[in-house]
Amino acid sequence: MSGSCGSAGRRPLSNSPVTVFVCTACGQAAQPDSPEGSDGQRLFSALSAEAARFPDITIADVDCLAVCETPVVIAFSAPGKWSYVIGGADPARDAGDILAAATAVAASPHGVPAIKDRPPFFKKGVVSRIPPLPSRA
Ligand code: FES
Repeated sequence: MSGSCGSAGRRPLSNSPVTVFVCTACGQAAQPDSPEGSDGQRLFSALSAEAARFPDITIADVDCLAVCETPVVIAFSAPGKWSYVIGGADPARDAGDILAAATAVAASPHGVPAIKDRPPFFKKGVVSRIPPLPSRA
């Protein structure tokens, strides 16, 4: 990413829980008969197994996040915060780092974690970030 990606450029917003969307279709075509499921399904299972320890984090599966060329694709989303779409997550390597990054997103008033709180998958894999919906007064 370029520009001032370490700052959100908006007024602080309230803290809120974070949903981690995991594309369970990622890797399905390459592993149609795998008993463990696709890479995305394995990542979803690994994150779901650990999520109970993180009350501010919800893990949700999704069929496709339209970045199919860089599996496994995940997204962080929270009300009133920036969202991130991130590709290249590895189910065998990144589950702990994904939960740590989601915790950093939850703790950030804008959903923009400090650079030091971004694990390698986050630093290497960001596809885009999306601003929060404007509030209507
Ligand atoms: S199959 Fe995972 S992003 Fe499309």
